[in-house]
Amino acid sequence: MTDQAVRPETDIPGKPTSASRTTLSHIMSGSDTNLLGTVHGGVIMKLVDDAAGAVAGRHSGGPAVTASMDEMVFLEPVRVGDLVHVKAQVNWTGRSSMEVGVRVLAERWNESTPAQQVGSAYLVFAAVDAEGRPRPVPTVIPETERDKRRYQEAQIRRTHRLARRRAIMELREKRAADGIDD
Ligand SMILES: CC(C)(COP(=O)(O)OP(=O)(O)OC[C@H]1O[C@@H](n2cnc3c(N)ncnc32)[C@H](O)[C@@H]1OP(=O)(O)O)[C@@H](O)C(=O)NCCC(=O)NCCS
Repeated sequence: MTDQAVRPETDIPGKPTSASRTTLSHIMSGSDTNLLGTVHGGVIMKLVDDAAGAVAGRHSGGPAVTASMDEMVFLEPVRVGDLVHVKAQVNWTGRSSMEVGVRVLAERWNESTPAQQVGSAYLVFAAVDAEGRPRPVPTVIPETERDKRRYQEAQIRRTHRLARRRAIMELREKRAADGIDD
């Protein structure tokens, strides 16, 4: 898995998961709502992207851009007044990309119950240089058993993302070669 704390081709030392783990907290206001009066999914997605971006920047030590966002799941509605915590960590690293896992929890403004998980997402960030070109990132070093499970699950998602992208490209190339113009 991550036996090498130093990436051999770059000499960049690895970084433990805990070094960049971040929580962003925000109280939901009336301007965050949809027509049903609950918080708009896009508002939550913005917070997710913000928290994940902060983690990716911390881990890679510089700018990082969102390459993809997948498996955004909304489990429960969020309401005005709820205190939302967005918890993010690097699950996996490639050469220049990082998968960041995000969990969204809500503390209900009118209940004294523990924060409830209301959503989750996985985002891929690419670290970029001043010209916007991908640059190498430190290898993430999972510390706990949970971090290790998340690393292994992220590898499965990475394999599926690449396979899906390749399959779609091949299909498009075949249709173009067959003279189909859509
Ligand atoms: C993301 C971006 C830097 C990738 O650039 P690229 O020229 O395609 O570079 P590469 O093909 O070498 O990809 C770089 C890494 O990102 C990964 N990646 C690129 N596109 C991806 C995608 N759609 N999903 C998952 N990973 C992706 C690659 O697998 C590679 O990972 P690795 O280095 O760990 O193996 C480029 O597409 C970009 O700048 N996109 C716009 C990002 C942006 O503006 N985001 C904010 C949205 S407004």
